[in-house]
Amino acid sequence: MTDTPSTHNQFDNKSKAWSARFSEPVSELVKRYTASVGFDQRMATFDIQGSLAHADMLAAVGVISQGDLASIQRGMERILEEIKDERFTWSLDLEDVHLNIEKRLVELIGDAGKRLHTGRSRNDQVATDIRLWLRHQIDVCSGLLRDLRMRLASLALEHADTILPGFTHLQVAQPITFGHHMLAYAEMFGRDAERLTDCRRRVNRLPLGAAALAGTTYPIDRERVARTLGFDEVCRNSLDAVSDRDFAIEFCSAAALIMMHISRLSEELVLWKSSRVGFIDLADRFCTGSSIMPQKKNPDVPELARGKTGRVYGHLMALLTLMKSQPLAYNKDNQEDKEGLFDTADTIRDTLTIFTDMMGGVKVKPEAMRAAALQGYATATDLADYLVKRGLPFRDAHETVALAVRSCEERGCDLADLTLEELRSFNAGIGPDVFEVLTLEGSVAARKHVGGTAPERVRIEAQQILDQAH
Ligand code: ARG
Repeated sequence: MTDTPSTHNQFDNKSKAWSARFSEPVSELVKRYTASVGFDQRMATFDIQGSLAHADMLAAVGVISQGDLASIQRGMERILEEIKDERFTWSLDLEDVHLNIEKRLVELIGDAGKRLHTGRSRNDQVATDIRLWLRHQIDVCSGLLRDLRMRLASLALEHADTILPGFTHLQVAQPITFGHHMLAYAEMFGRDAERLTDCRRRVNRLPLGAAALAGTTYPIDRERVARTLGFDEVCRNSLDAVSDRDFAIEFCSAAALIMMHISRLSEELVLWKSSRVGFIDLADRFCTGSSIMPQKKNPDVPELARGKTGRVYGHLMALLTLMKSQPLAYNKDNQEDKEGLFDTADTIRDTLTIFTDMMGGVKVKPEAMRAAALQGYATATDLADYLVKRGLPFRDAHETVALAVRSCEERGCDLADLTLEELRSFNAGIGPDVFEVLTLEGSVAARKHVGGTAPERVRIEAQQILDQAH
């Protein structure tokens, strides 16, 4: 890629688009230090798309001829093919994706190619490229979030009745259903998708026309370019258009939240898979073994995802810091926006794709979940609620049940193991119907309001998510 030797003499500054003003060549190190072609070439198709829209507009307003436009279109088509077939020679001497493509265009079509940059600067060009590139990434990631939610909703439907201990402080709290637990993540990823949609609105604005910073003297038609490129609006201030990268920061922030949610799910998968807990197993293709311990099957994918959360947070901090205190308008600092942004999009794309597949391969072990739920006095709150419904104030009911739990602890049994007589020793109002609320099934079924864990509610919510997608 970048290491491809240039066909030009490295000190031949004439190959630079801005060379005439300079009397001294830059050193090899400075050239490498300032070049971005090694990474920004991945925006090439968007760069060409932007250039074609710009050329189309220049021809429409009469700044270039229809003949020039046709040549530019022909040249760009050829360049696109060269890039696709990996025949395009990227040169470090030409600094970035923009100058590389423009240089090749001039090679192919001559003077018409030299007219393309009329009324444009690399500053508004690069801002446009990033927005086009990011818009595409957002659309891909939104689709992936949708797939993951579907997968979680299917899992929820399948396990609407599967009892799982719900935890607070990582201590057994109350029985819930595994389906409900899956739907909690579906909610998180649903909000993540909303954030991307919202971010897309601000990404989808056209900087072209801002030129270097002050706009241009040509009679440009920015609305036309915006329409051609599918932008909803044009940026209303040229200084702002070329300089701010807040839209990229927004994306990185939405991505950081996605990874934060992924890391929570990862943590649970790792915990659930550990032999001490044993609630689930993961398909072998998401795990690896140990080079020394033959018995091991490690949950590498969720662990890695947990780890990758850090790098995505890092990119967010890097971009925020990059933008901080930058005076108007464009500064070369902004060239540093790309690698972190690219890596952020790559990381969430791969992570979401892999997680959708992995969640499909989760093997749920209902007996282990049930056994754990039976151990932690998970229905104690239900007993308290039972007493409240018989007229006891909640605080008193709480106290009564606490005493019952303590006595169970001493005997080493569960609340449901106590006889009616024993239970009545804590409160005489307790009747034989108490055993309905002391069962795990009774406990979850009673929470059937919106947002509750009852199987019937889980089925409604999961179905709703599945229906949205169709
Ligand atoms: N490669 C540059 C970037 O990524 C393009 C804009 C350069 N503009 C300039 N005036 N040097 O930001």
